[in-house]
Amino acid sequence: MARSASRPEARSATGTDWWRTAVIYQVYPRSFADSNGDGIGDLPGITARLDALVELGVDAVWLSPFYTSPQKDGGYDVADYTAVDPLFGTLDDFDALLARAHALSLKLIIDLVPNHSSSEHPWFQAALAAGPGSPERARYLFRDGLGADGDVPPNNWQSVFGGPAWTRVIERDGRPGQWYLHLFDTSQPDFDWTNEEVHELFRGVLRFWLERGADGFRVDVAHGMAKKPGLPDWTPPDPGLEGSSHDTTAPYWAQPGVHPIFRDWRRVLAEFGPDRVLIGEAWVEPLSKLAEWVRPDEMQQTFNFTFLETPWDAVRLKKVVDDSLAAFGSVGAPSTWVLSNHDVIRHATRLGLTPPPPQGEGLGPGSRLHPDDAVGVRRARAATALMLALPGSAYLYQGEELGLPEVIDLPDSARQDPTFFRTGGANYGRDGSRVPLPWESAAPTAGFGPAGAAATGASWLPQPPSWPGYARDAQLGIPGATLEFYREALAARRTHHLASNELVWLPSPDADVLVFRSGAVTVIANAGPTPVALPAGRVVLASGPVGSGRLPGDTTAWVVD
Ligand code: GLC
Ligand code: CA
Repeated sequence: MARSASRPEARSATGTDWWRTAVIYQVYPRSFADSNGDGIGDLPGITARLDALVELGVDAVWLSPFYTSPQKDGGYDVADYTAVDPLFGTLDDFDALLARAHALSLKLIIDLVPNHSSSEHPWFQAALAAGPGSPERARYLFRDGLGADGDVPPNNWQSVFGGPAWTRVIERDGRPGQWYLHLFDTSQPDFDWTNEEVHELFRGVLRFWLERGADGFRVDVAHGMAKKPGLPDWTPPDPGLEGSSHDTTAPYWAQPGVHPIFRDWRRVLAEFGPDRVLIGEAWVEPLSKLAEWVRPDEMQQTFNFTFLETPWDAVRLKKVVDDSLAAFGSVGAPSTWVLSNHDVIRHATRLGLTPPPPQGEGLGPGSRLHPDDAVGVRRARAATALMLALPGSAYLYQGEELGLPEVIDLPDSARQDPTFFRTGGANYGRDGSRVPLPWESAAPTAGFGPAGAAATGASWLPQPPSWPGYARDAQLGIPGATLEFYREALAARRTHHLASNELVWLPSPDADVLVFRSGAVTVIANAGPTPVALPAGRVVLASGPVGSGRLPGDTTAWVVD
């Protein structure tokens, strides 16, 4: 019997440490619920649907950005960090949402986007106007170009979304001038985090939302804010990974300069008590390196993308679980687990593809890979049942509880992800995971927006004909439905303390099967095709049909003896 290295730490003396075991549900505001019928989800829409998340059984909600933004990257291009975009509502709507969440005992995490602003942020507009060498330009990464005319970008870095990471500006004299760095879209200029003014700006942003009562922040691109001094050229080792957000040898990812920023922010959060949290979106490997993001005086937790990217394979899953518990446990942090978010192919589709396309490539009508939906959703439920049995905190992405697949047949004319445009359509990007949710099978837009006169009858990304079949009201109370499976899983996870128990591996009957013990529960996940014997006892959760003492392939069960 192998003992795992980590046991989530006991509660700290002062805080509740709620986040160590929490299930956190990601809401992508544009696509969750539309209150006014303009086809775009909004804050009042979320408030009106929060009860559904309580019924689902989650502990906290994380909202993707709802701030003032030209929406060039779904709001990850922020023009005002302390204002609500009219598209989503008002600050009063935010306060109402927060009050409702707290009344329902849900924590509310909001998104912080500190690597870059929108090019429409007043600071960037001032930088353009002020010209080379000005203090305004020093808040961003402006550089002169190379070559006699300065028409060669300052270095060879590529944008994550495709194409060069530099754009040249037109100066006041009407002539091409300096270049600015944008690791993402041209509309997302990177801040210079060696500039104290940038630090001051973000301390203010943190305090603004903490004073309003936000429970914490999910920190966007928490591996990118510090750049290697001198901004040296860099060529990715594998040309196929060009622009990839995964290669931490890049001089713009995982630089040591990010850590003092998080320590500073942690002190700001502490001004508001022990229970506010920082959650890092850091695409950093290996896990032992990622653990540096969650040292005791830095963030409380960070997404586990290594787990997300692990294929449905027992040997690799066991390894990533062990590596995660060891790495995070070594710094006293809980591991986290995640299978889907707004940047990746939904796991109900991804797990039906072997191998899945790299992150960002997405899926579309012309993709070389064609998922098997039935296999995908079966494995997705099995993977979810495995994930929710693991010690630590777990993230769910809106719609996965409905078993939603990635939407592949989006017309080019509907796509909005800058990835699609910056690669000339070579990468479909992430829109397929962002299609507005179905709530009511018989209603227009499957209940995403209101019925009646207010309704345009459309949503910002078109819903496919299959959507009403996945609607919440078509699944609620229906045995075997994916929604009921998620509700049962979250309830049993709580009843049996799976998030805080110690994980103990048990001998496996088959190389494709994982078996472990967590308190009174034996968890058995069959990642292969061949049925195996179920442990004796009462099945408290099964990701698919089980019968006569056998656990079929691509199925996970929780058994209490
Ligand atoms: C993060 C977000 C993603 C966004 C990018 C740039 O990866 O999750 O949606 O496009 O940062 O802000
Ligand atoms: Ca709306």
